Amino acid sequence: MTGEDDPMTTTPQAGPATTPGPTGPDITELAARVDEAARRVAELDEPARRAAEELRQAVEAVHRAGLVTIVRRMRADDRARELLFALVDEPEVRMLLMLHGIIRPDPATETARVLAGLRPWLREQGADAELVAVEDGVARVRLDGGGPACSGAAAVLRDTVERAIVDAVPAVHRVEYAPTRPAATFIPLTAIRAGRPDAPSAAEGWVRTMPVDQVPQGEVTPMRLTAGEKEVEVIVVRLADRITAYVNACAHQGLPLDAALVDAEDGTLTCPWHGLCYDARSGECLSLPGAALRPLPVRVAGGEVWIRATAAEGEAG
Ligand code: FES
Repeated sequence: MTGEDDPMTTTPQAGPATTPGPTGPDITELAARVDEAARRVAELDEPARRAAEELRQAVEAVHRAGLVTIVRRMRADDRARELLFALVDEPEVRMLLMLHGIIRPDPATETARVLAGLRPWLREQGADAELVAVEDGVARVRLDGGGPACSGAAAVLRDTVERAIVDAVPAVHRVEYAPTRPAATFIPLTAIRAGRPDAPSAAEGWVRTMPVDQVPQGEVTPMRLTAGEKEVEVIVVRLADRITAYVNACAHQGLPLDAALVDAEDGTLTCPWHGLCYDARSGECLSLPGAALRPLPVRVAGGEVWIRATAAEGEAG
């Protein structure tokens, strides 16, 4: 059965998966009864099974026609529309309209519902999660709390959230995590590695990158710098009063860190490929003693961030 002729969409709204019906069995019991009847029909011999199937389709067609009329009329009336949207949040009504293809589950709504269902458990772990967006089958989720991003506990949280979403929302096949929300911080420019007052010299390999006040807080900013004939892939990370730059290559397999997860609270940066965790301020690897990101010298001059790209060749800066 399809709902192509009159689909509805609903706004994201968290709510319980099931609630007892006001006058009868709850939705789980009703669904179990349907399943049991379908199982018994499937065991009938062919003519009986076909007759039962024809009866089911005929009854459903009558119900659907009535429901479509109800929904159309309610949508056309301002006051009734409000009631209609409230009704759609009732699990029984929602299931009925979905069964008849009258509303289509939209991935953002379904993902938000999954997160709402997980929230009590997340809070027990000292964490919370919110949906940022769902695009092209990828749910972008912000996960706050639950320990340093590189800790085992945080990895369990991320795994659990991803599995719950991917299992419950067919349109989502992957979950990405947005950076945690950094606390708003005033940055005194003098606190940033200001270095010498004179403008850095391009001849010494310094490259002007971007205005200091445009470097986003608590995120990785990837960029490609050209110094002379050299091109260097770089990431810039700003945490509160400090800006650092590294060669854009993880110490593990040299893979790029554009999508690395920065935890502004813990000051860590986690590689998206296999989870190596770094101190975002020093580049030191916290998961693998002795490993580190390759830092590049940074200066702020004239309100701009300069990076000495040639230091990527092995110069200490
Ligand atoms: S490439 Fe970064 S952890 Fe493997």
